[in-house]
Amino acid sequence: MKPSRSLFAGLALVVGVGLGAPSVLEAQEEVVEYRQSLMQAFRMHMGGVGAAMGDAAPMGHAVHHARAFNGMAQALANAFPTGSEGGRAVAAIWSDRDGFMDRVTAIQTATADLVEAAESGNAEAVSAAMQAVRGTCGACHQTYRDPASQ
Ligand code: HEC
Repeated sequence: MKPSRSLFAGLALVVGVGLGAPSVLEAQEEVVEYRQSLMQAFRMHMGGVGAAMGDAAPMGHAVHHARAFNGMAQALANAFPTGSEGGRAVAAIWSDRDGFMDRVTAIQTATADLVEAAESGNAEAVSAAMQAVRGTCGACHQTYRDPASQ
């Protein structure tokens, strides 16, 4: 929802200038940007594992990407604090906290399995684990990400 995001940024600027200190809205916008950067990191490390499975990077790099991936998944648990509505996050993240946290746990588990598979060096295991990880992205987006701009 880009228009409302830039509206937020504009409001944050006005309020921030008015008070001479970072506003609540600015802080909220930073939380949204932070969690979006976690998502971008997910995408990047997914590509990294793919590269390691092909010819673009040594197979051993899959371990580095998988560990970073799992770290990002741990961070996800606290990336949607109360009062940080915005971006493409839907209200159900806060109204259905248990359901959302189930999705967070799913990606934490799937990426932990990916680390194990990457450490084993078994290409088939890595590819199966990657498939499972990818499934957790879609499962969460389907329910908790605003589809309007997909
Ligand atoms: C637990 C829920 C959840 C999981 C799991 C999840 N996402 Fe997301 N993702 C979201 C939500 C919610 C947003 C919208 C965030 C916002 O705009 O504030 C989002 C946004 C994104 C974005 C857009 C970021 C931007 O710059 O605006 C990308 C890319 C993305 N996710 C990729 C992934 C990938 C790849 C995975 C799996 C490896 C994944 N996500 C797993 C919930 C999830």
